[in-house]
Formats: sequence, C-alpha cells, structure tokens
Amino acid sequence: MHVLVTGGAGYIGSHTCLALLEAGHAVTVLDNLCNSSTVALQRVQEIASKSLRFVQGDVRKPHDLALAFEAGIDAVIHFAALKAVSESCEEPLRYFDNNIAGTICLMQAMQGHGVHQLVFSSSATVYGQPDVVPVDETAPLRVSNPYGRSKLVMEDLIGDWCNAKPDVGAVLLRYFNPVGAHPSGRIGEDPRGTPNNLMPYVAQVAIGRRERLQVFGNDYPTPDGTGIRDYLHVVDLAEAHVKALDFASDASGCHILNLGTGRGTSVLELVHAFEQATGQPIPLDIVARRAGDVAEYWADPAKANACLGWHATRTIHDMCADTWRWQSLNPQGYAP
Ligand code: NAD
Ligand code: UFG
Repeated sequence: MHVLVTGGAGYIGSHTCLALLEAGHAVTVLDNLCNSSTVALQRVQEIASKSLRFVQGDVRKPHDLALAFEAGIDAVIHFAALKAVSESCEEPLRYFDNNIAGTICLMQAMQGHGVHQLVFSSSATVYGQPDVVPVDETAPLRVSNPYGRSKLVMEDLIGDWCNAKPDVGAVLLRYFNPVGAHPSGRIGEDPRGTPNNLMPYVAQVAIGRRERLQVFGNDYPTPDGTGIRDYLHVVDLAEAHVKALDFASDASGCHILNLGTGRGTSVLELVHAFEQATGQPIPLDIVARRAGDVAEYWADPAKANACLGWHATRTIHDMCADTWRWQSLNPQGYAP
C-alpha cells in the first residue's frame, strides 16, 4: 500500500513511518514541521535502508494536500495535530483550527481522491477522570481541556463521515502514554522547550539538561501516593498502526480501540525503573499536585488485542533503556 502519513516527521509519526517501510509499504509524509525536524525522516530512511516521499505542507491547505495525494495514495494515517494541553487552554482557537479544521480538509481531500481508509490518532485524554480502571472503550467521555475537546470532535466527525459513506473504514486509536524510542537510539522524542511529560523530563535530568525532577504530588490514593499511568513503548505503538492499517483495509465503519499495555506504573516506579535500567540517578523533589491531573488510569486493551492481533510486548525496562540510549546519543535531540 502507499500510505500518506500526516505529521510523519513527529515523535510517533517517525516511528510509524519506519514500521511501515519495514512492513513493505510505500510512504508519503505530509508535515509542516511546526513541531519536528526533517532529520528524523533522514534517519528513518537510513535505518530502513529505504526511501520515503516528503511533502512539506499543511493539512489545512488544499494545495499541499493535492501534492501529497498526487503520488497515488491508498490509505492515510493522520498524526498531524498540536498536542500541548496547557497551550490549548491559552489558545483554544489555534487548536480547533489546526486540529479540527485540518482533519476536515484531510477528509475532503481523501474523498476527492477516492481514498477510504483512515487511521486516526486519538488519546486517552477523552476519558478524563475515569470511574473505574482499567478503562475500556465504553467508558464515559469527559474532556476537560481544548486539546481533549479537539480529539473528541475529530472522533465524532470521522464517525459521521463513516456513517454517511459505507465504503469508508476508519480506526480511531486512543493512545495511553507513549514513551521510549527506537532501540537504535537514532529517533526518539524531542520536545521543544521544557518537557511537559514525565519520561522526557526524567531523561533530560539524567543527561544534565535539568537539575531535578518535580514529582507532582505523593498524596494520591495510590500505593505510593504518586500518579499511575499506562506507559506504552512507541515501537509497540508504531506496530499497532501497521496492524490498524490492515484492519481498516478490510473493514468499513468506524472502530475505536484503546492502545495501552493494560498495566499501571506510578511516577516513583518509573523513576526507579529508569535508574535501574540506566544507572543514572534522578534527583527529585515532591511538590504539589499538577492542576488537572488524575490519580490513576490504565487501559483495557482487549479490543485492540482481538481486532488487530496486537499486544504490547516491551517492558518498562525497555522503555527506559531505549529512552536513555536516544537521549545520551542525542543530548540536544535533533538539534546539531
Ligand atoms: P508530534 O508533535 O511529535 O507530531 C505531530 C506532527 O504533526 C509534527 O511533526 C508537526 O510538525 C505536525 N503537524 C502539526 N500540525 C500540522 C499541520 N497543520 N499540518 C501538517 N503537519 C502538522 O506529536 P506526537 O507525540 O508524535 O503525536 C502524534 C499524534 O498523536 C498527535 O495527533 C497527538 O495529539 C496524538 N497523541 C499523542 C500522545 C503523546 O503523548 N505523544 C498521546 C495521545 C495522542
Ligand atoms: N509528572 C510528574 N512530573 C513531571 C511530569 C509528570 O510528576 O515533570 C507526573 C504527572 O503528575 C502524572 C504522570 O507523571 O502523574 C504522567 O504525566 P505525563 O505528563 O507524562 O502524562 P499525562 O498522563 O498527564 O498526559 C499525557 C499527555 C496527554 C494525553 C495523556 C493520555 O500529555 O496529552 O497522556 O494519552 F492525553
């Protein structure tokens, strides 16, 4: 298949492009590079010993989409989005325009080019504070910020499109907490500015770019008092996209799947795993809870296991070791 990957230069997109090339697919990336670098794509091609096609452009621009679709696209994986929760609270309209308007333009271009298979990046953020864990796909949806709102609206729009057009098949993937890097250490997560998320922050403390980790609260109703999440290795996540693409090719309608390991890990457990996997000490302070954080959630991935024949296989130890290999080989990320 020839797959259009929007946002393919980004963190999850670059790992997925590699998995697609390794699975024998042809790849066109459409990315405006607002949060990524072409170095990631150069390295993907070097690791795979295969080339991909890159169109620098914006999913909201019909001309850029036309260029991307020119190559004869069979299916689309749609990663392109803005993803910072706090920024979305300050600039909701920018998030609605980039994420929601971008997705509408993409669906229009797909329809215009007769492309009917779509795999979409959603997020466990749509569940907000869950009533029970593990969280399955029937859990109530409670978004609490404009980023989450944009994901929920995009899910609904894709669902409506599928309802109207029986030949369209879409898979909406709700990721829990993607972390880690390719085991080569050549591609990984390269956040701009101060990382918001735990794993990249820990890695930057280990490499000496940050002094100490702040642990946001140790008074949650969890065994060690710190927040619990379902961390998922980005290579497992990338492999799930390849399987979702195959699934979408044979399916019509809209299918929603959680992607996680089904296991929860606390902040302190993750920090200790990182120290064990890498031998790097992580100095930390316990500080107040971060506004908007929930105590604990982890996925019930049974539906993805059954529909895709996919299971996350990589451990927290793998996630930490691979993050550290990426961070230590690239102390400043993709910057020279
Ligand atoms: P990322 O920022 O590394 O990748 C997103 C890519 O999209 C970037 O390369 C960016 O330049 C590009 N992009 C953004 N807006 C664009 C536009 N209008 N046109 C073209 N390109 C555009 O983020 P990521 O972590 O790889 O996330 C990928 C997807 O997964 C996003 O949709 C995100 O919301 C979703 N997601 C991420 C996480 C996570 O923790 N990383 C969790 C759940 C869901
Ligand atoms: N944490 C710290 N210190 C930090 C950063 C995080 O203690 O410096 C804690 C948080 O309080 C939380 C845990 O580490 O308990 C994980 O926090 P992350 O920021 O890494 O992840 P979140 O679960 O808060 O959110 C992430 C993305 C969201 C996405 C969600 C589900 O940021 O956009 O996963 O996919 F919606």
